[in-house]
Amino acid sequence: MSTHTLELSDFVRLLGSPELAIPPSCLALIKQTDWGYDWVDGQPLDDLVTSLLERIRRKEFSIVVHGDKTRWVRGWGENLDDFVASKGDLNALAPKYVRPNMPVRLFRRLAQPVEPNFEQCWRRVYQEWLFRTYFADRERIFEFGCGSGVHVSVLAEMFPQTKVVGLDWAEPSAEIINNMHRMHGWNTEGRVFDFFHPDYSVDMPANSVVLTFAALEQIADKHGPFLEFLLAKKPKLCVFIEPIREWYDPANFVDHLAMRAHDTRNFLVGLTGALHKLQSQGKIEILKEHRVEFGSLLHEGYSQIIWRPL
Ligand SMILES: C[S@@+](CC[C@H](N)C(=O)[O-])C[C@H]1O[C@@H](n2cnc3c(N)ncnc32)[C@H](O)[C@@H]1O
Repeated sequence: MSTHTLELSDFVRLLGSPELAIPPSCLALIKQTDWGYDWVDGQPLDDLVTSLLERIRRKEFSIVVHGDKTRWVRGWGENLDDFVASKGDLNALAPKYVRPNMPVRLFRRLAQPVEPNFEQCWRRVYQEWLFRTYFADRERIFEFGCGSGVHVSVLAEMFPQTKVVGLDWAEPSAEIINNMHRMHGWNTEGRVFDFFHPDYSVDMPANSVVLTFAALEQIADKHGPFLEFLLAKKPKLCVFIEPIREWYDPANFVDHLAMRAHDTRNFLVGLTGALHKLQSQGKIEILKEHRVEFGSLLHEGYSQIIWRPL
């Protein structure tokens, strides 16, 4: 028996959404999972923190090397092969970095869930809330840095009338999205796109919505070209779901560890500052900034910045 469980009020806090605004399908999904957990405390916490410090010291995680996409081409290439071999099985798209049976970050502490696929279940709830809240009734949906297409596939099934475009600099990713169209008949299109050299031939109708999900995390402080591209294309809404370094609290040691890992990995910096500068210049309006206090051991990757070009 676990001593705690995520209640509806916790989801309200995590999502940054009033209870009444949570769509019924999302409430139904929440009810399907055992959200029990125990805080990691005492000696187990000491052991876990020591192992995390050691991981950071040894740099035992992927580190962003500017301009190098080989890791992604290889990784999404494996997912592409599995997807084709299984004739379009969506399980073949699961990114390998969401691992079962792991402790999670929750409300600036570390917690051990009961459900082995706790983070996976949370992601599904999060997608249901996010997509139904911001992506309904759009002419076109774009996910930049879409990877294996785990969000594109959910969006394509949720909004069959809407064209969903998945873009990524790794070619196998675009191929996965185009195979979704071929194998499932979904209204999807895959394209190669590089945040550092945006392709201005992408056609973006006025009522479009743009998503990035754990993708800008990969570009350190090089967000200028992509923001300029969005200002020129003027989609109706931009939804960035990313780890925001500036929102960690350096006085909290669980956050402090994440900041050290974030820096060692050469992850996203300065995005909020850049967006606030654009807002003060009258070029954009920021509609929501919300720290989502959930994540994996060294990474809080679900925070929201929602804005629109003016
Ligand atoms: C952590 S994965 C996230 C994938 C997907 N959004 C998800 O949530 O599962 C980061 C993605 O960003 C892509 N990416 C990294 N740098 C990029 C760049 N310069 N231009 C376009 N995509 C890039 C990677 O290829 C990868 O697919």
